[in-house]
Amino acid sequence: MRNFRLVTSLLLLGCLLAFTTHVPAQSSGMNADEAHRKAEALLKQMNLDEKIGQMNQAAGMMIPGLGGAKPDDLIAKGGVGSVLWLIDVKEINRLQHIAVEKSRLHIPILFAFDVIHGYRTAFPVPLGMASSWDPSVEEAAQRYAGQDARAAGILWTFTPMVDIARDARWGRIVEGAGEDPYLGAAMARAQVRGFQGENVGPDSVLVCVKHFAGYGAAEGGRDYDSSYVPEELMQNVYLKPFHAAAAAGAGSFMSAYMDLNDVPASGNHWLLTNVLRDQWGYKGFVVSDAFAVASLQVHGFAKDAEDAALKGVTAGLNMDMASGTYVKNIAKLVSEGKIKETQLDAMVLPILEAKYKLGLFEKPYVDEAKVESTLNRQEGRELERKIASRSMVLLRNENQTLPLKKDLKKIAVIGPLADSTHDIEGGWTVEGLFGGGGKSHPVTVLAGLKNALPNAQISVVPGPTPGKVFLGMVDQFSGSKAVTPPTAQETSEWIAKTKSAAADADVVIAVMGEMASMSSEAASRASMKLPGIQQEMLEAAVASGKPVVLVLENGRPVDINWAAEHVPAILESWFPGTEGGNAVADVLFGAVNPGGKLPVSWAHSAGEEPLYYNHNLTHEPEDRPNFTSRYWDVASKPLYPFGYGLSYTSFKFDNLRLSKASMKTGEATEVQVDVTNTGSVAGDAVGQVYIHQRYGSASRPVRQLEGFKRVALKPGEKQTLTFTLGKDELQFWDPQTKTWVVEPSTFDLWAGEDSTAKLHAELTVTE
Ligand code: NOJ
Repeated sequence: MRNFRLVTSLLLLGCLLAFTTHVPAQSSGMNADEAHRKAEALLKQMNLDEKIGQMNQAAGMMIPGLGGAKPDDLIAKGGVGSVLWLIDVKEINRLQHIAVEKSRLHIPILFAFDVIHGYRTAFPVPLGMASSWDPSVEEAAQRYAGQDARAAGILWTFTPMVDIARDARWGRIVEGAGEDPYLGAAMARAQVRGFQGENVGPDSVLVCVKHFAGYGAAEGGRDYDSSYVPEELMQNVYLKPFHAAAAAGAGSFMSAYMDLNDVPASGNHWLLTNVLRDQWGYKGFVVSDAFAVASLQVHGFAKDAEDAALKGVTAGLNMDMASGTYVKNIAKLVSEGKIKETQLDAMVLPILEAKYKLGLFEKPYVDEAKVESTLNRQEGRELERKIASRSMVLLRNENQTLPLKKDLKKIAVIGPLADSTHDIEGGWTVEGLFGGGGKSHPVTVLAGLKNALPNAQISVVPGPTPGKVFLGMVDQFSGSKAVTPPTAQETSEWIAKTKSAAADADVVIAVMGEMASMSSEAASRASMKLPGIQQEMLEAAVASGKPVVLVLENGRPVDINWAAEHVPAILESWFPGTEGGNAVADVLFGAVNPGGKLPVSWAHSAGEEPLYYNHNLTHEPEDRPNFTSRYWDVASKPLYPFGYGLSYTSFKFDNLRLSKASMKTGEATEVQVDVTNTGSVAGDAVGQVYIHQRYGSASRPVRQLEGFKRVALKPGEKQTLTFTLGKDELQFWDPQTKTWVVEPSTFDLWAGEDSTAKLHAELTVTE
């Protein structure tokens, strides 16, 4: 009976909520040749100071502690090419008028901001969107975000963040697509397409691929810390999504903060010139991360500001973000003959080209009358709700606890995130970034539950307020004060309230995890434990004997070892965005069957990090009885593997076959696998293909993802998924010859639902 209801409601909702990426595409603007010709002609008219001005990105907002006067005078002199951190439309237009009307050559300013996962309507955080394993989700979200941004005067976004994150302690894991280069590359391409369209044009927003490169390998997962990554690991893992984004036409790159193999990324000639320009033939421009040029001195790399400017330019860094180091020092360096003006020409040209392609010279101003109506489009919220539910991952569902019945009378909702409007959207929201916000009216999980069950009786036990829960953490962006732990007395009162609410309810929904500001920039953690008294509250709820559902909001895997054994249902929602609460309710009550998969390996504890599935074999692999690479105190395997996620239905993968089981190194083979929905409700399966090269000139990962596809299947329906394995999938960067090679070898192949898939085939590659 229950299943029948579910089938019909899923079919109905399937029709209503059928996922669509229908967000109108951008019109294409000036073609690249024309933009190039115009930029060259303009460049010929520019004097030295004007060229240096284009390489200067000024802060449009005063930031406490970091200062910054209004850049009006400098703009009038042509000394500012771009302005960042400004979303006040009137101020954007005011500054643009100065640039266009007062500066000698009337070159418009490129306004830039971090539009990471939406403008007013916040989509799920990027780690969440990657969990959809559906690049069209990222593309649709970013296209929509780009339309909002462009209407509000933002021409350039510092997105996508494509850093591989193998260590969940690193807070910036939330901003990317997780640990895998193949999935990361797919999400990177989708975001480039979403913001820029086919070509950068008058409706596009220029992307900035960051943080180039190796930033996610920060030692100890501490943000900004040094990365030591050998070239083969850079090429085979860390650079892959960057290369994919460059190949997809990304207009700009951002150099990272940290030093890579002892050379700070913003002054790293190998990265910015040898790899990006020489190996990849990249024609766009590179901006530093904020203040990173000045920081070359802090790194102990540049002698002084002048030396920092010299090192930046020499490495191949076109634009200085916010530090003013270029604008103050380059003229002197040119006069001393340390930098040639022709060098500067090459750096300025792609910046001007981007401005032409974006149609800025024709239409430099924002239409202020249209901003609010664009930002408040209802269609954005509908899209967000679909994307959010599509990004959720069902981690556990014992005895079909989920979906919940809609005839529940009494629900106890517990946990500090249940009704937190600040956290449901995650960090890095445009309007929330500097403590603003308040215009998006986010739907919390509590509000979503009330919308879904207007007649149910819902009791709420939040526990200590987030400020008290998140011990010792100061929310940097909202500027909240230092926090104090709850007293023993307060704790026991909250536990008592939890127990009585649970005792009186049909079901307990615990909304727990991390505060949004505990992940993202400068927000690493040495422990993955649920902060505050959430664990105690969860245990008290389970002790009541009532069914408990844990809904997680978090920017990284957290320690849920206890929950994974005792809480019957766990749904990972990440930070699901503005409509997050409604989307959670859609999944909890079965309107949407969850199909998301983990883009990260879920560790038991921080001590296991970095933990990733695509590691090499040790000399004593894990499946041997003794002396294996393991800890005494935790299993070597993650709690949940990369690619994992449950559904309200079940799938069978079989009949794995190759069009050629043996082939030559230059050839490709087709891989096919059948997937059948063996349950009684419709659902999405994500077919995943992994390979392993058994021997060759280097040790290769035990498994690496080389294909995936998300498909919707009705009960009983079967589909054949087809993948290609050829040069792109089989090659690797050989550390011995320093080239990309496809080697004669035997390859294992697995296909199935996650990175532990058992269905196996072999491929032989000969000379
Ligand atoms: C610093 C961050 O590292 C980077 O990701 C961001 O884009 C810039 N600030 C600009 O806000």
